Amino acid sequence: MKDASPQTIYLKDYKPFGYVVDDVHLTFKLVPNSTRVVSKITFSPNPDATDRQFRLHGEQLKLISAKINGSDVSPVMLDDGLMVDAPNETFVWEAEVEIAPEANTALEGLYMSNGMYCTQCEAEGFRKITYYPDRPDVMSVFTVRIESDLPVLLSNGNPVAQGEGWAEWHDPWPKPAYLFALVAGDLVNHPDRFVTQSGKDVELNIWVRPGDENKCAFGMEALKASMRWDEEVYGREYDLDIFNIVAVDDFNMGAMENKGLNIFNSSCVLASPETSTDANFERIEAIIAHEYFHNWTGNRITCRDWFQLCLKEGLTVYRDSQFTSDMRSAPVKRISDVIELRGRQFPEDQGPLSHPVRPESFQEINNFYTATVYEKGAEVIGMLKLLVGDDAYAKALDMYFDRHDGQACTIEDWLKVFEDATGRDLSQFKRWYSQSGTPRLAVSEKFEDGTYTLTFKQHTPPTPGQDVKEPQVLPIAVGLLAQDGTEVTPTTVLEMTEAEQSFEFSGLDAKPIPSILRGFSAPVVLERTTSREENLFLLEHDTDPFNRWEASRTLAREGLIAMITDGVGSDTLWLNALKTAVADSTLDPAYRALLLSLPTQSELAQTLFEQGVTPDPMAIWTATDTLREDMAKSWADILPALVEETKVIETFKPDAEQSGKRALAASVLAMQTRLDGGAVAKAQFETADNMTLQLSALTCLIQADAAEDALKSFYDQWKDDRLVMDKWFGLQVAAAKPADAAKRAKTLTEHFDFDWKNPNRFRAVFGGLAMNHAGFHNADGSGYALLADWLIKLDAKNPQTTARMCTAFQTWKRYDADRQAKMRACLTRISETKGLSRDTTEMVSRLLG
Ligand code: BES
Ligand code: ZN
Repeated sequence: MKDASPQTIYLKDYKPFGYVVDDVHLTFKLVPNSTRVVSKITFSPNPDATDRQFRLHGEQLKLISAKINGSDVSPVMLDDGLMVDAPNETFVWEAEVEIAPEANTALEGLYMSNGMYCTQCEAEGFRKITYYPDRPDVMSVFTVRIESDLPVLLSNGNPVAQGEGWAEWHDPWPKPAYLFALVAGDLVNHPDRFVTQSGKDVELNIWVRPGDENKCAFGMEALKASMRWDEEVYGREYDLDIFNIVAVDDFNMGAMENKGLNIFNSSCVLASPETSTDANFERIEAIIAHEYFHNWTGNRITCRDWFQLCLKEGLTVYRDSQFTSDMRSAPVKRISDVIELRGRQFPEDQGPLSHPVRPESFQEINNFYTATVYEKGAEVIGMLKLLVGDDAYAKALDMYFDRHDGQACTIEDWLKVFEDATGRDLSQFKRWYSQSGTPRLAVSEKFEDGTYTLTFKQHTPPTPGQDVKEPQVLPIAVGLLAQDGTEVTPTTVLEMTEAEQSFEFSGLDAKPIPSILRGFSAPVVLERTTSREENLFLLEHDTDPFNRWEASRTLAREGLIAMITDGVGSDTLWLNALKTAVADSTLDPAYRALLLSLPTQSELAQTLFEQGVTPDPMAIWTATDTLREDMAKSWADILPALVEETKVIETFKPDAEQSGKRALAASVLAMQTRLDGGAVAKAQFETADNMTLQLSALTCLIQADAAEDALKSFYDQWKDDRLVMDKWFGLQVAAAKPADAAKRAKTLTEHFDFDWKNPNRFRAVFGGLAMNHAGFHNADGSGYALLADWLIKLDAKNPQTTARMCTAFQTWKRYDADRQAKMRACLTRISETKGLSRDTTEMVSRLLG
């Protein structure tokens, strides 16, 4: 068990470790509940450190023996490791420990999943494998020997030698312990090769359980595309003879970038048309790229300490989004990212869990792999690039790789290369890393004597621990349109640095219509009371695809808010304008599908809350449902043409073109279902030859209350496929009517196939519940209570996944007194659980404030 008494770690307390590690030799004798790990590590005094205390991290280890320079020593045993007197010169530390991978349900350290051994060491899991200075600024070369009867034995780096029952690996690149990995199992591979820019031949493998080998081809193509892209766009080549990916069924996260041996949640790598949706394919492509890109941004250049997490994660998310934009459609990717940012990061930044992109303290680092570190961290890089320009960005990145290869770095190092490459002073820009909260940007305009003036005011509301906010540097991309829709001023980036600032555009014939924050050039909330006419105009004419979409989204949001608060009907002017855009076959179907997506119910709740109205989840659900109904009825005449247009006759391909068509087709099917009660959906369900079509039909049938047979036959068809069964579990809850969601979730937890210790299955049901806004917030509190019961149960087995799922409660202060009291009671009940993990203790206490 981890130490439950919370200890807070501060960025300002950073001190280098007293020793450097010259090399590491590890021997693993794999046995399910009595694995022996023998370590032989050479340490030398660190000239950059003053404190020579020799203290190693270690958790849940049984120490068998410890030696320094060949002589037995008796370390002082601590809660989180050990301490021993060590020489002030180079010495060899040897230890043997015993661990129990089969009993490890936390899925951190060395554990077992379906008979296969695997590891997850980021952030602080290596200390559950052996005693070690488990911190990212201690880097070393590793040699690993694995002894096991299992046929496939893998670790980082290149294979050195192997024999009957053993294998040896050597990783020549110094790395922190969090990038260590080991896999042993009865696995089969999907092999391929890649020749790098400089002609180096690299062996590629995707390792899976027998039976899954036909689900690897797509991931392999994505890997090769990522390798090529990183060479072409960032000039970065792969640096080992072999690159292995392994699929694991039990995994807390999506995937992990261990050097030369990436480990993936099987849901993020295995794909086939029959079992994976287009969204799955797109996610797999992105995550394979993300983990591969870490080889340079994360592994070759790593983090000095975990406060610098955004150094690798923000940058790598930014890089993987550039990759997806290049492989697919840039506007569609940008809009999807902003939907995600508003759906996940904004609520976090506006609630009790708000924290800076670079936090200054934590209790459990696993709780800081957040939307803020990842998504806002990526937005910050996008802003930096917009401010300095593409060429300077490329120059700064080259400088970053040259200067810091092989080092463990900080945000200061990162910003310094931009300062050196551009001569800019980035001290104010640095506030993006230290100031939490979402800035709000108000806009007013003036037109006089041919000069158009835009005045902006920025303001960031207080967040936990930060009452006073300073102005941020905001790149505001603006374009100006004439009344006839032509662009009179193309996109210009205004650089706002003051709390209030005006920008002038002169030489204009008439008052223009502004298109502000094009491409969502800064992660802020734009507070602008744009008239309905102006938004309708932008929906029709804006040349910036993001803002065109944004105009419609704003109209949808304002229309829904009016329906909720004033009881008015749907905005027919907007519905008609949108209908024209959606019927416009010159527009990308994927883009039209996004135009059709409504603001989420959670987003509407947040908007109401900001306007001082207590959100009623059921009223929000009803308004959304009414709008969908009106949309279906008033668009009935364009549906047949859309059905024709979105038919895919070619062989299935999960590319942007086909998946765009299928996304639009799914929206059309949802409208048809409202008109025909599910007849077309039923037919589609029965004839579908790919999971995208099958699942979109099933969703419609659930929403039409006509899914009973389909759910049964889906189960019979897919009961042996774990990943598809996750969809079956999740969808029933996520798409359920509000009154049924918690009941359905409860029933599913009693299902024979509900393996709650598997994070994917647990997340399917409870992630589905949390996503069902009105269902989760059902007035009787049954959604809250059910989730709390299960979080308490899961915490004893898997603290990391439990703590992450506590975020379902992060918006609790938005709601009415009764719901607040019910949620507070659940959080309190969780917090009072005996033996609660450090992870969940920290989350719940922050949530309670
Ligand atoms: N390094 C992380 C994986 C990780 C996260 C390990 C938290 C330990 C704790 C990996 O690179 C990552 O960021 N994975 C993401 C997916 C990615 C596409 C954003 C994930 O697992 O969700
Ligand atoms: Zn990452």
